[in-house]
Amino acid sequence: MQTKVENLYKIIDLDIHNGTYNNFVILDKDSHCEFSFGGLLRLPRGLTSLCSGQPWLVYWNLNSLNIMKMPIPEEVSSQVIALLSECICPYTGAFCGGPSQDPHLAPTYASVAALISLNSAKGYSIINRKGIHDFIVSMKHKTVPGAFTMHTDGESDMRSVYCAICVASVLNILDDAVTKDVSYHIANCQNYDGGFSAEPNGESHGGYTFCAVASLIMLEKASLVDCERALEWCLMRQMDIEGGFNGRPNKLVDSCYTFWIGAAIVMLKDVLNIPKEVQICSSEALQAYVMVACQSPMGLFDKPGSSPDYYHTAYSLGGLSFFQEPKMFKESILDLADIDPLVNALKKNVEDARKYFIELGPI
Ligand code: FPP
Ligand code: ZN
Repeated sequence: MQTKVENLYKIIDLDIHNGTYNNFVILDKDSHCEFSFGGLLRLPRGLTSLCSGQPWLVYWNLNSLNIMKMPIPEEVSSQVIALLSECICPYTGAFCGGPSQDPHLAPTYASVAALISLNSAKGYSIINRKGIHDFIVSMKHKTVPGAFTMHTDGESDMRSVYCAICVASVLNILDDAVTKDVSYHIANCQNYDGGFSAEPNGESHGGYTFCAVASLIMLEKASLVDCERALEWCLMRQMDIEGGFNGRPNKLVDSCYTFWIGAAIVMLKDVLNIPKEVQICSSEALQAYVMVACQSPMGLFDKPGSSPDYYHTAYSLGGLSFFQEPKMFKESILDLADIDPLVNALKKNVEDARKYFIELGPI
């Protein structure tokens, strides 16, 4: 992988450490927007296995479009709301991966994040806060205090903690019944190296580290863990030759960690009062990896040799939005919207959503 990426950099004589190149590269937003619109409402034939991930496809593509500052037409917004309405479980009020499927914390997070991405009262009106609250409480693990299962008798890991806490936080339903033991469980998942694992005594991973850090901050409990060590672990994820992040030691670089690790770095800097303008990882090298090594003519992919997909498009762009300055390619303007690192949706929309649900008062 190092050689593959180095060879791509050689084409434009790019030295990611000195910031020199003989030809600049742009982020082809027009094409990536076309790609994202294409995956928004229609499940392509090759992706029928994602029929249980329909809210995810909607969310990833809306978020990509928002990050690229592409307006969402009213008609598309209505169609999204109609589709997500069909994904609501009639018994619990939580969201399912598709119509008539089982309620699940992951599509519940994806659906709420998609509705935040639309930022409309009409969208928020389909959310059953009491139902979602009670569903989240019913997902609390029976034998591991503070953990959640994803669905009834389902798997339990740091993703389910994040989905539960993020949804409850934004919807203003984060009460003691939801939060009991959660921060201690998360703290139990921090390892000697500073990173967090899916469950206690596992391997540290960038995805779980994002989930743990974001959840702790939303619980106002970041002081329970060693944030400096967590930040150090995240910074070690930037690869010297490729410039992008990997998700765990000795694994390959992957563009989606531009968000998972990047957002964790942004959040931990904030917790540790490190000023935003202090650069502690190389933004230029991250831009180089995403723009030179992971762009296809339409959409982005994880690493050279892969095909583009909606997940990597959304998370590469989300990560890039944090690391737009200083520029690798001085001639190429990124102009991506700011996103909230805790929720992973437009910053402005998350602020509006929080206000909206605070005004609704307690359930
Ligand atoms: C390893 O895959 C991936 C995991 C162990 C899961 C990572 C978790 C996330 C990305 C967080 C998901 C968050 C939500 C909100 C659902 P791999 O072995 O293919 O990748 P690697 O080689 O990069 O570790
Ligand atoms: Zn990836």
